[in-house]
Amino acid sequence: MEIQEFAHGLSSIPEAEFTHDRVLDYVRRNRVDVKSLAPYLYFSPEHYTRNLIHRTPLFELIAICWEPGQRSAIHNHRGQRCWMSMAYGKVQVHNFRLVRQDPARGYCELEPSTHFIIDADRPCEVDPEEPIHQVSNPASFGSRAVTLHVYSWPYDTCEIYDLKARHYEDVKLVNTTEFGVLKSNLKVEKVSL
Ligand SMILES: [Fe+2]
Repeated sequence: MEIQEFAHGLSSIPEAEFTHDRVLDYVRRNRVDVKSLAPYLYFSPEHYTRNLIHRTPLFELIAICWEPGQRSAIHNHRGQRCWMSMAYGKVQVHNFRLVRQDPARGYCELEPSTHFIIDADRPCEVDPEEPIHQVSNPASFGSRAVTLHVYSWPYDTCEIYDLKARHYEDVKLVNTTEFGVLKSNLKVEKVSL
């Protein structure tokens, strides 16, 4: 289906029913035609890009564009839900277990737990029990990738973790584009897939 129809369908799920299972079922059943994402597909050699497509008080819908070799920081979503599906290509997800932390000095120890691949047939939800994760599009996959993310509630910060330095901190999330309009200084290329 087209992205606008996908967004409309999500918007029509009542707040009380916007649950783990219901939204996961929705993203599994409804594949988005990548051609309909054309207004939102910007790639950058400097960083993956975040492209806001739709926002309601309950959720936001974002397309993230990954060049081969790009990856996110190790991060969590501060208790918010995140469902992820592929619009193009595939990505790898690594989950991490929090072994120890001391918020007073931003100290943390993590250890790797599960990892898996998301492709068009396998959408996923960030595991609420183990929400620290990293998403990557390894160069070995040999392709650009576009992930579609449903975040509920909308939020603009996350915690990022430095595995080696054993440190974590809050960062503000910046959208590269919002509703198809550029919002950042990243050097970007608009791409049709
Ligand atoms: Fe994430």
